[in-house]
Amino acid sequence: MQVGIESISLYTSHYYLDLQKIAEKRGEDYNKYYTGIGQERMSVPPPDEDVVTLAANAVIQAMENIDARQIDTLMFATESGVDQSKAAGIWVHKLTNLPKNMRVFELKQACYSGAGGLALALPYLLQHPDRKILIVAADIARYGLESVGEPTQGAGAIAMVLSTSPKIMTFELSSGIFTQDVMDFWRPNYRDEALVDGKYSIKMYLRTLMEAWEQYTALSGRRFEDFNKFVYHLPFAKMGEKAHSFLVKHAAETLEESEWLKQIEDAAVYQRVIGNTYAASVFTALQSLLDVSTEDLSGKRIGLFSYGSGSVGEFFSGAVLPGYRTHLHSSRHQQQIISRIPLDYNTYAEFYSYKSNMPTDGSAISTPIHKTGSFRFAGLQEHRRIYEVVR
Ligand code: COA
Repeated sequence: MQVGIESISLYTSHYYLDLQKIAEKRGEDYNKYYTGIGQERMSVPPPDEDVVTLAANAVIQAMENIDARQIDTLMFATESGVDQSKAAGIWVHKLTNLPKNMRVFELKQACYSGAGGLALALPYLLQHPDRKILIVAADIARYGLESVGEPTQGAGAIAMVLSTSPKIMTFELSSGIFTQDVMDFWRPNYRDEALVDGKYSIKMYLRTLMEAWEQYTALSGRRFEDFNKFVYHLPFAKMGEKAHSFLVKHAAETLEESEWLKQIEDAAVYQRVIGNTYAASVFTALQSLLDVSTEDLSGKRIGLFSYGSGSVGEFFSGAVLPGYRTHLHSSRHQQQIISRIPLDYNTYAEFYSYKSNMPTDGSAISTPIHKTGSFRFAGLQEHRRIYEVVR
């Protein structure tokens, strides 16, 4: 029996900052961002957007041709949760009218948790082939204005319906996993912005990739040559090149650079202009590959690597299904990305700072209205978050 993705959709915020604006502000050459880290733009959420609204917008697209009564679980993967207790998925469940008889919960392990949810969903579905699972990964990457991580911010959500009647991609069950306690990126409960040791994180990412790859190949018997494309977690687009050249050196030494670049470049297209989407990142990269690749990927094996700082990494794989293109929302994704509104630096800084200035004493606040798709975060009342459907 096959198990995998029946439907997948991406959603990002309607505003972006060109990284030239950050370069101008810092008096730097913008090529440090465009070429050095491979990032041109980053999505910026307005004050009335959060992971709930991003996720709900992704869910309505992914659920378009799905009978909601078959979904029995919604897993919400995020490290930008809006409540320490309540799962963000409960608001998404209500906003998108999902059935009452289902379980909803939140998953956290930095950028890894979506892949962790996927690993648990696959054997569950094989045991319950009449059911479907909705995994949503949504995040808003915040490092702080003028911080070293500022050019690697971003925002977005991926919603995936997994089932035993996949139409886009099947997953194989063997994977390689590696966990170690490292402090490369983290966000203490009292902070709104992540702390990161970027250079150390790159080292830990590569070490984890190697350990996970070794276990994956030992368990699956597959080799580098069995893959057509590779999809990596991308905290910034250039990380894909760093990761793949590292793997190539280890597992396919004679492969020409022009050849191995072809294995990863389509997966980085969305990341270059959206920025980091943390838990959604590896799936945003998969969505990018599926949407923008002019090559017919039917029957091709894809290797995926998810890395969540702290850290956990997993290498896993799947194969694209014939006819996958007819089930994608590619033109809608591309249209949304192209039609985003550019921000100047001051407006971006204003959007960014709004969250840090929200009341924490229970007093009411109404957020200013911006473009947020079909849902918006309308404000706070007595410590309660208020969400609205946009008519
Ligand atoms: N033209 C072209 N390339 C340039 C350049 C220019 N004018 N100026 C610098 N570069 C290159 C550098 O050589 C470097 O390349 P390399 O990595 O191949 O050596 C790259 O641009 C970045 O420059 P660097 O000075 O290292 O940038 P930085 O100190 O601002 O750090 C990050 C970059 C990505 C490490 C930092 O933004 C960060 O920590 N981001 C957070 C990453 C993260 O989230 N990690 C955790 C999750 S996995």
